[in-house]
Amino acid sequence: MCGIVGYVGEKNCIPILINGLKRLEYRGYDSAGIGFFSLGSTHVIKSKGKVSLLEEKLNSHVYESHLGIGHTRWATHGVPNEVNAHPHFNSNNNLLIIHNGIIENYQTLKTSLKNMGYSFISETDSEVIAHLIDSFLKKGNELLKSVRLALSEVEGTYGLAVIYEKEPDKIIAARKGSPLVLGIGEGENFIASDVSAILAHTNQVVYMEDGEIVEVFKDKFITRTIHDEEIQKEVHEISLSLDEIDKGGYSHFMLKEIIEQPDSVTNSMRGRLLLDDGNAKLGGLDNVLERLSNCKRIIISACGTSWHAGLVGEYMFEQYAHIPTEVEYASEFRYRSPIIYPDDAIFFISQSGETADTLAAMKEAKTKGALALGICNVVGSSIARESMSGVYTHAGPEIGVASTKAFTSQLVVLALITLLLARKRGMKLDEGKCIAEHLSKIPEQITKILELNSQIEFIASEFQDAKNFLYLGRGFNFPVALEGALKLKEISYIHAEGYPAAEMKHGPIALIDENMPAVFIAPKDSTYDKIISNIQEVKARKGRIIAIASESDSEIDHLVDYTIKIPDTTSMLMPLLTVIPLQLLAYHIAVKKGLNVDQPRNLAKSVTVE
Ligand code: G6P
Repeated sequence: MCGIVGYVGEKNCIPILINGLKRLEYRGYDSAGIGFFSLGSTHVIKSKGKVSLLEEKLNSHVYESHLGIGHTRWATHGVPNEVNAHPHFNSNNNLLIIHNGIIENYQTLKTSLKNMGYSFISETDSEVIAHLIDSFLKKGNELLKSVRLALSEVEGTYGLAVIYEKEPDKIIAARKGSPLVLGIGEGENFIASDVSAILAHTNQVVYMEDGEIVEVFKDKFITRTIHDEEIQKEVHEISLSLDEIDKGGYSHFMLKEIIEQPDSVTNSMRGRLLLDDGNAKLGGLDNVLERLSNCKRIIISACGTSWHAGLVGEYMFEQYAHIPTEVEYASEFRYRSPIIYPDDAIFFISQSGETADTLAAMKEAKTKGALALGICNVVGSSIARESMSGVYTHAGPEIGVASTKAFTSQLVVLALITLLLARKRGMKLDEGKCIAEHLSKIPEQITKILELNSQIEFIASEFQDAKNFLYLGRGFNFPVALEGALKLKEISYIHAEGYPAAEMKHGPIALIDENMPAVFIAPKDSTYDKIISNIQEVKARKGRIIAIASESDSEIDHLVDYTIKIPDTTSMLMPLLTVIPLQLLAYHIAVKKGLNVDQPRNLAKSVTVE
């Protein structure tokens, strides 16, 4: 989704902005631009498409500038083109803005600004902000006051940065509902929508909160509320290193992140899994543990892949902790006036911690008095900070748009929470120890599955031309079927559906023929016999079948076209293993189709608009 970077200091800002925008590419975008002051005037260079195209344009000029802002745009209002790309000018061409988020009342503002004589060149909602600020400048206000007054008229969300030729020593930035962070350097300061854009220069950051505005100079920054009260902000040191956000020799971030999973799931359980006690220790839940373990109901709310992790969590919590659990899309949860009781506990799962729907749903739950807990990967993210308590997944930065290692780490954290709650609510020591033991073996079992990479690559070559795919699983592996299908459609653009295998005969079976491959997730568990019947039903209709099966299962080979054999574990942890071949299958199919795996079309890593 849109990205922001800004610099003020002694160095030439152009390469800093371009490199910052490259670091933001993973978020998903379709055009890019930078704006800066040089030789007494304001310059804007924009380009449709990749940041490399913007860079090419810049190569034909030699600019030197010490203050500038850059933006990657993910189109919402108006097609991706140069005119709609940010920065946007005011009418005097001496003020620039870049904006993440959506201005919901932009039509009303546009009409009144047009009546005041302003004309618009883009189709964006963002351009109104430039003219609105300009209208307050024209009344004799300084820049800071003009920005504050403009924002008081704006409805919607923003991460905003503004520069003005007549006050050329500062960037003004503000936040409401869209992430914004300051980077503090020596004689230089930065702004960004995401720390990865500025990590090459500093690890000292200040997280801006909703309703805050900042003036950023090269040697200081002044933070205020939007109502003009000065506030002091804490400077945080982030431990993320640049290596962690590099490809590390892999052809794609997605492949690197798939391969990293033995380590990332280990990091998720490190220091938390108590093998001898058959239990888990989660410091982030200590202060709410009594309330959580006595809750009458758990709700899990999330979007995308995190929602799929939530579905696995539902099965875990109900079967082992015996707490009724519901899972809901955050976007639906927020708007359907949910009935929430004070003795409900609600987990909000989000890799980025910035997904607008999930953040809004969490705020809604808090106002209704529920225990609102976060399961996030990005430390210091909005959802992590907004939650009453929570657990970090510690998967490390995930850059590939299609989520992989974040999902398995979410599953590990859900398994740890299950163990903690179940043991507190009466699970016997032996059963706890058995689950803990199985969990501790997951990293080496994932390593074993990753050794099947070339077999899976071969299967991918057999199916790369398929137009549709069906993914089928039961019980704990039904959410994995959904996740496998999502991975495939996200990066290969092949239409894929995930279904509970038994539901196939209530509709999808009509689609089965020799052109409709079906992926069955069929480990030897309590539903194995039933799923074999479903496999027979597909075979009888000439469907081609790939099965994810237990390594101890030799019979299934005769029934299906391709088998991918995985080690055994307890059924609640099976998704941690069954999902790995599905991630690799989607990855290889997309690579064979020559697609941009890490930045698939139209998708964003972190969806900061509703
Ligand atoms: C986007 C991403 C998905 C992700 C979803 C939820 O759609 O492309 O990969 O699962 O957002 O993101 P979150 O950061 O909240 O887990």
